[in-house]
Amino acid sequence: MLPSELVKYKENSQKIIALTAWDCISGSLAEQADADLILVGDSLAMVCLGYKSTLPITLDNIIYHTNAVSRGFSKKISDQPLIVCDMPFLTYQCGEDKAVEYAGKIIQNTYAKAVKVEGAEPEIQNVISRLIRMGIPVMGHLGLTPQSYLNFGFKKQGINLESQEKIKREANILEKLGCFAIVLEHIPELLAKEIQSNLKIPTIGIGAGKYCDGQVRVTADLLGLNDNQPPFCRPIVEGKKLLKEKLKSWVASERLN
Ligand code: KIV
Repeated sequence: MLPSELVKYKENSQKIIALTAWDCISGSLAEQADADLILVGDSLAMVCLGYKSTLPITLDNIIYHTNAVSRGFSKKISDQPLIVCDMPFLTYQCGEDKAVEYAGKIIQNTYAKAVKVEGAEPEIQNVISRLIRMGIPVMGHLGLTPQSYLNFGFKKQGINLESQEKIKREANILEKLGCFAIVLEHIPELLAKEIQSNLKIPTIGIGAGKYCDGQVRVTADLLGLNDNQPPFCRPIVEGKKLLKEKLKSWVASERLN
């Protein structure tokens, strides 16, 4: 599937379901679960590599992990989910030339068909428009943007009128620039609803309520594998607790053998 085809989901009122993945096991699980889109998000810094934020992830890291994810796929190519890859911190904040080079390397060296960038500041708008003109599809990301946590914290965004207006304005700009979809993270449900109805491109929510055109979750959060669970993701299984208990009892029983 090409990124531009996601718009048909919205036109047909078909929900887009996206999961993150970071290695071949999570890639295989997400693919076998029939996710439409797999995001190799820089959240892998926190859920897989033990960092406290997403900032340490490098271009080489994201390429390495994206290739591990696609090695986990077993469906025939035409049935595989669309892979979108996060542009790591400092791969697009330093200007358009560098952004094209780094996004190009992602596209050239992985099976990702698009990149995601956070925010819509004027400099980022220039980057997005240049990437798209150079043939690299871009997914936007507004609301809580973890790469800016030093400015805004890991907090819900769009809680006052000014910030709501800013997010709405930026969503319209991202659509005009040619983004094929926008992730809305941790914003009020009614704000996400208004944005969803104003845009032709799909909105994919995480902690943004039920009115988005799709939902994305960090798979490790959904599986309860983390110690620090975000407030907006209820795990579907207490994965860490369960696996820890099973392993502990296997170790104990093997000791007796
Ligand atoms: O990095 C990531 O996993 C993301 C999701 C939270 C959308 O950007």
